[in-house]
Amino acid sequence: MSRKRILTGHRPTGPRHLGHLVGTLETWARLQDSHECFFLVADLHILTTDYAHPDRIQDNILNMLADWLAAGIDPQRATIVLQSIIPEHAQLALLFGMLTTVARLERVPTYKEQVEALGLRPSLGLLAYPVLQAADILLYKAEVVPVGEDQLPHIELTRETARRFNQEYGQTFSEPKALLSKAARLPGLDNRTMHTSYDNAIYLKDTPEETRRKVMAMYTDPTRIHVVDPGHVDGNPVFTYLEVFDADQDEVEVLKRRYRAGQVGDVEVKGRLAEVLNVYLAPLRARRAELINQPKMLMEALFSGTVRAKFIAQQTLEEVYARLGLLHSQSFSEKVLANNISGIFC
Ligand code: TRP
Repeated sequence: MSRKRILTGHRPTGPRHLGHLVGTLETWARLQDSHECFFLVADLHILTTDYAHPDRIQDNILNMLADWLAAGIDPQRATIVLQSIIPEHAQLALLFGMLTTVARLERVPTYKEQVEALGLRPSLGLLAYPVLQAADILLYKAEVVPVGEDQLPHIELTRETARRFNQEYGQTFSEPKALLSKAARLPGLDNRTMHTSYDNAIYLKDTPEETRRKVMAMYTDPTRIHVVDPGHVDGNPVFTYLEVFDADQDEVEVLKRRYRAGQVGDVEVKGRLAEVLNVYLAPLRARRAELINQPKMLMEALFSGTVRAKFIAQQTLEEVYARLGLLHSQSFSEKVLANNISGIFC
């Protein structure tokens, strides 16, 4: 039986943090054993909100790739795709745009949030963000899309787009299913959502010293002034992290009991967490340090996947063009090259 095809991806906003690791990268690495995996570097999507930094994008892509590979993404087994290099992503998005109403897109929650957060007048590109995402997924006819909960509205729109296209033009796409990560969502160091732009994350590339410093400054229980005050464990990110990363959960239970009873201070608990994280991350960091010094190898991994993806993307687009009654671009180019345009309208 052939393996189901997965497509998922990240916008290359720079180095990956712990939330990316436990929320997505560890899952992606595992899925490589059971699925045919496509991992997309969504560099066009970056431009929907961050279009004024052409100097940063290449560096951000390399840093993200180094983290992906260090976390176990294997370019021999998975296909890594650079979105902007395959024009079929943009072409299919344009065509899907014809099937999607503005009113539908204005109801997408991530769009509403972004518009509020940015305080800008939104661009057409931002409104069409999920249309481009639908194109990313359907271009490869992916069946499964592993994502975080925030992305579910985009997968729903992708399913609607597939359905709508099939209704209008005949069965072409199946409706992909979202695969929600089972991992607990890791809060940021300040107990807000962990986010690159909030400066509240531990990065995979951080040194053990940086990690320790960040952990020692972490938000804990604001109601606790003295060590002897009874502490709260629930909603305390230090304990959330220990639950995720500490190999000795019996010891974590003991610590929790002592914390609730006012028998252990934050410094001791945080010291343990810093140690635990540094042990957990050590092998990954060693791989990452090697990878980031080999940008050529990273780009080769990216391009070999992208070449493979290009063939599939081209086939899907040819099929879509045929459904829409448009001319096959491939035969057009071939005929132009052969100096024979008379047979194009068959
Ligand atoms: N929107 C996704 C995010 O911000 C990134 C993305 C782009 C994506 N295209 C995709 C995810 C296709 C899954 C499938 O995380």
